[in-house]
Amino acid sequence: MIETIGVVGAGTMGIGIAQIAAQNKHQVILYDLSDAQLEKAKSGLEKVLNRLVEKERISDNERKNILTRILFTNKISELWPCGLVIEAIVESIKIKHEVFTSLEDVVSEHCILATNTSSLSIASIGAALKTSKRIIGIHFFNPAPLMPLVEIIPAIQTNEQTTKTCKDLIAKWGKTVVLCKDTPGFIVNRVARPFYGEALRIYEEGIADFVTIDWALTEKGGFKMGPFTLMDYIGNDVNFAVTESVFKAFFYDPRFKPSLTQKRYAEAGFLGRKSGRGYYDYENLKLNPKPQTDDTLGERILNRILCLLVNEAIDAVFMGVTSIEDVDLAMTKGVNYPKGLLKWGDEIGLDKILNQLQELFDYYGEDRYRPNPLLRKMVKENKQFYP
Ligand SMILES: NC(=O)c1ccc[n+]([C@@H]2O[C@H](COP(=O)([O-])OP(=O)(O)OC[C@H]3O[C@@H](n4cnc5c(N)ncnc54)[C@H](O)[C@@H]3O)[C@@H](O)[C@H]2O)c1
Repeated sequence: MIETIGVVGAGTMGIGIAQIAAQNKHQVILYDLSDAQLEKAKSGLEKVLNRLVEKERISDNERKNILTRILFTNKISELWPCGLVIEAIVESIKIKHEVFTSLEDVVSEHCILATNTSSLSIASIGAALKTSKRIIGIHFFNPAPLMPLVEIIPAIQTNEQTTKTCKDLIAKWGKTVVLCKDTPGFIVNRVARPFYGEALRIYEEGIADFVTIDWALTEKGGFKMGPFTLMDYIGNDVNFAVTESVFKAFFYDPRFKPSLTQKRYAEAGFLGRKSGRGYYDYENLKLNPKPQTDDTLGERILNRILCLLVNEAIDAVFMGVTSIEDVDLAMTKGVNYPKGLLKWGDEIGLDKILNQLQELFDYYGEDRYRPNPLLRKMVKENKQFYP
């Protein structure tokens, strides 16, 4: 049984992961190079816990216990008692290698070494280790204490025991755990690409403006946020960087091609909410246009984006990245989709999804719209994903 959890990096993700582990009664050692960052993390956590006490989600005693369970330190050597260390430092393979090499000198040979990376391969991070069977990806979503989904990603070096221990442990923490192959974007950041990419493409072709596309997805599709509102929320710089990294990592597969519009918005500093302006103006909300609430147009926009999303979810199953159940869980729990995409595909009719993709493919002649072979096969055999 793992008692002590180490977290490396006390930034946005690290402090959230430390909070979850401490709330689940582990001793936690949170290490960061920067004293200022450790201070900031500690005062941030105190504020979060105070709010939880005010809302009566935890008792004052529990608040004190959580804080006393976490050791904030700038010495990596303090991590020696850990049974699991989760790294959440900057997204640089060079710096991650340095940290994992140092960690291996400190912890016991049984300690599992996990990374919270969003975009690097787990195999490439594990390559720095002498005992690489203990490397694994444990990918939390932001904010980690609130988001229910965690993707568990064994690398080709990882042994089965490491995967099982992590799956069981994170599930015990009350998270929804999905298992995923070590492939670019894992599940959520791969399958969700068309939500942004196709919305941008529809805008670029002049079919509809931002607000009408958002209206179609929220009103007709039941999504909590439309793509442009969501990109403004995530930040156009961050969202563009994820798309670009997935595109490169898939050897420039046109399905993941980034959008020039988004690049220009990022370049102009129109990052979204955080800069006061993105696709929408957040300083003067009255300046934002109203949607064109035309039902036929709305359905057309929704169906086009949805058929690409379903195709991508099918590809994740076809390529053995994950299972039917896990791809649906990942999208509902990780990004709040109103339904699992495969379940949605079944409901719409896989034949209709195929027809629409085929029409787009024939019209544009672009690989971006190519129907997945598993979709073709399922339609041919008159099958559904769920009985
Ligand atoms: N922010 C997100 O939404 C998000 C979501 C999921 C995964 N991730 C991944 O989690 C990781 C961390 O992201 P973040 O947003 O928390 O970053 P962040 O910039 O908020 O925090 C990184 C922390 O790492 C520390 N650090 C840097 N180099 C270090 C070193 N050599 N040793 C010890 N500490 C060091 C920094 O001082 C900083 O406190 C990245 O791999 C990122 O891809 C981020």
